[in-house]
Amino acid sequence: MVLPQDANPLGYILGGRVMHLMDIAAAIAAHRHSHSHVVTVSVDYVDFRNPIRVGELIVLKSSVNRVFKTSLEVGVKIFSENFITGERKHTTSAYLTFVAVDANRQPTPVAPLILETPEDHRRFNDALERREIRLAHRFKRGR
Ligand SMILES: CC(C)(COP(=O)(O)OP(=O)(O)OC[C@H]1O[C@@H](n2cnc3c(N)ncnc32)[C@H](O)[C@@H]1OP(=O)(O)O)[C@@H](O)C(=O)NCCC(=O)NCCS
Repeated sequence: MVLPQDANPLGYILGGRVMHLMDIAAAIAAHRHSHSHVVTVSVDYVDFRNPIRVGELIVLKSSVNRVFKTSLEVGVKIFSENFITGERKHTTSAYLTFVAVDANRQPTPVAPLILETPEDHRRFNDALERREIRLAHRFKRGR
């Protein structure tokens, strides 16, 4: 539930708070799939379409879309929910990339996904194009 300490003076949840929760929800999906420690290596473009007000619920849904080798893409979809009326509004979606790391904090391989539904296949296929864009823009050491 969105509480006053999470909000700006208009009574809307702060964008930074939403991003924090998004990172945690995505990390949980990455942990559950990889059974490993993971670190966030990249967050794609984030926009906020509808505000979430104090007293509303914030609902976060995360799924692992694709495993590459040591990295995996997780999608997060965020909704506001008014528990009096039951109305749910889509606030934002984002893609985060995590890298699984071993005890020495070095990248370590992750087991592939088992794709079961047409939706799983669609997410898997779409993730490749996003990875190519992401890697083209990634920070390069020494540059
Ligand atoms: C994650 C980390 C260990 C990767 O180290 P690295 O030297 O970049 O390792 P590599 O170049 O071998 O890349 C490892 C994987 O990350 C992927 N990767 C690296 N940078 C990426 C980026 N910006 N976006 C998407 N994927 C990226 C690579 O494609 C590779 O994936 P693959 O094995 O599935 O093909 C290192 O960048 C790190 O520690 N970053 C800080 C993470 C952190 O602390 N996050 C919390 C917030 S500060």
